[in-house]
Amino acid sequence: MCGIVGYVGKRDATEVLLTGLGRLEYRGYDSAGIAVNTGNQLEVHKWAGKLSVLREHLNGEAPRGRLGLGHTRWATHGRPNDANAHPHATEDGRIVIIHNGIIENYLALKKRLVEAGHHFRSETDSEVFAHLIEDSFAALDGQPVAVRLEQAVRLALREVQGAYSLVVAHADWEGIVAARTVSPLVLGLGDGENFLASDVPALLPYTREVIFLEDGDMAVLTANDVRLSRVTGEPVQRASTRIDWTAEDAEKGGFPHFMLKEIFEQPVTINNTLAGRLADDDGEVNLDLNLDASSLESVTFLAMGTANIAGMYGAWLVESLARIPARAELAAEYRYRDPVATPSSLAVIVSQSGESVDTLEGLREAKRKGARTLGIINAKGSSITRETDDTLYIHCGPEIGVASTKAFTSMLTAEALLAVWLGRRRGALSAAHARRILFDLRRLPRTVESVLETRPAIAALAAEFMAARDYLFLGRGVNVATAYEGALKMKEISYIHAEAYPTSEMKHGPIALIDESMPVVVIATESSLYDKTVSNIQEVKARGGVVIAVVSNGDERVRALADRVIEVPRVHELVSPIVNVVALQLLAYETARLLGCDVDQPRNLAKSVTVE
Ligand code: G6P
Repeated sequence: MCGIVGYVGKRDATEVLLTGLGRLEYRGYDSAGIAVNTGNQLEVHKWAGKLSVLREHLNGEAPRGRLGLGHTRWATHGRPNDANAHPHATEDGRIVIIHNGIIENYLALKKRLVEAGHHFRSETDSEVFAHLIEDSFAALDGQPVAVRLEQAVRLALREVQGAYSLVVAHADWEGIVAARTVSPLVLGLGDGENFLASDVPALLPYTREVIFLEDGDMAVLTANDVRLSRVTGEPVQRASTRIDWTAEDAEKGGFPHFMLKEIFEQPVTINNTLAGRLADDDGEVNLDLNLDASSLESVTFLAMGTANIAGMYGAWLVESLARIPARAELAAEYRYRDPVATPSSLAVIVSQSGESVDTLEGLREAKRKGARTLGIINAKGSSITRETDDTLYIHCGPEIGVASTKAFTSMLTAEALLAVWLGRRRGALSAAHARRILFDLRRLPRTVESVLETRPAIAALAAEFMAARDYLFLGRGVNVATAYEGALKMKEISYIHAEAYPTSEMKHGPIALIDESMPVVVIATESSLYDKTVSNIQEVKARGGVVIAVVSNGDERVRALADRVIEVPRVHELVSPIVNVVALQLLAYETARLLGCDVDQPRNLAKSVTVE
């Protein structure tokens, strides 16, 4: 997390930095800062708070120059105050650094530097870079500034342990030195100008020709040149990639929030996930995978957050349709528990950003254990895609709202395709059954559209229950995942405490919480467990609970029992989570909006968690 932008070229650097940071604010919004080379000095402006605070302070006094670095922070070490904001400068102000990541041995380094006479001005781990580079730079006296700075960065990187994307500039040179290990960094190539950023959306207004740096890479950027090497010194070449997202894809397009825009984009984004993958009418799926489906003995979905909930759905479908034992696990837990995996295990790595560090490390652990790996990923060229054996892109364009919506439904869609593909290849799924599922997948854009049309009714429900302190979400079977995602969305953006349980588990504990002040959202759409769900709703009602049920169009039984219903189209049970969750996304969104919460940038969260 944290967003970094760097620019060198012919434009107004402040403008490029602020535009880029605006598109990276989803990565953190605890503080924002820039450093611009104004001729013979690096002018630093940094403030606690969102980018808007920095903008206000710069109003009328923005530094003018052709080279700059910018940062938006998600605090790890040190509170989110002005002093801890990046950039950090050396005491003489000639060198500035910006860092994203965590330096694990910073306390030892800091102690040594303080003993040698360095004065630290922040509580961050990052500041050690400024002091380490300052020392080496001074020791390399006599050589050109560019050579000294690059070498000083190299020497500093030899001393640190941990994760970093690092960018460094010196007041006497029109260039930037950058390096990455674990935390992402992408270079944007222009004509007489070059850019760098933590993520592609920051670059889209200027260029779509990018180079993704790999772990251990360093880059030296000037207006007319980009030179790559390894931290160890050897030169290296990396091919550039052309990004097919447009600048408009990362804008709100008339919606009040990115989250709402992204919820409403789902008919299109799901369609993009399906595009080219559904064979005409023969119950087959075309996936361009090298994977040998026949030899698989287990499938583990590894992910974090919403992507982990998508993994629960994926595991359910793979086991159900392909008859392979499958489960979902948090990548952060998997990586430390010495898991069992073999060459006949498949690890499916699910991630919107392709950069979540826990997920990336889960992938690496699976590979170490010999498992085959497949990524279900949105961001093209991201770290995870470079390390998996296969990647199934979900193609849903940049997702900016911190609470994931369109990426989630596209992950589910891709997983359904994968499960059908595996099922057919292994002879576990009949063509007729596959056709039924694919029929409903193909119709999803229209089906989701009709859920979106219920927004006014869901907004009215949200208004009715916005004073609730707690919510309970219940679902059964494949819709347990839907309940988890509904509760997560509610918590993340409205700050209302919400818990999710399998409906079957309710009577083993959560039932004690039920009273007239806690709305209970029950996924009660048509399914093989519908009758049991109806009984569970009766149990809630018998205890004076308030039930909001998500039901299939035309449902009578649940309607007669529940206090409120949200009607959604009837679809195959295994496809239903993709439809049902859209109603829950809207419920969370409308609740948060009515409560006046910052929907796109909920407190304490960041979209892409690239620190442990
Ligand atoms: C963060 C975000 C979540 C996201 C999770 C995994 O916690 O706030 O919305 O689901 O990271 O992100 P990924 O990019 O790996 O899908």
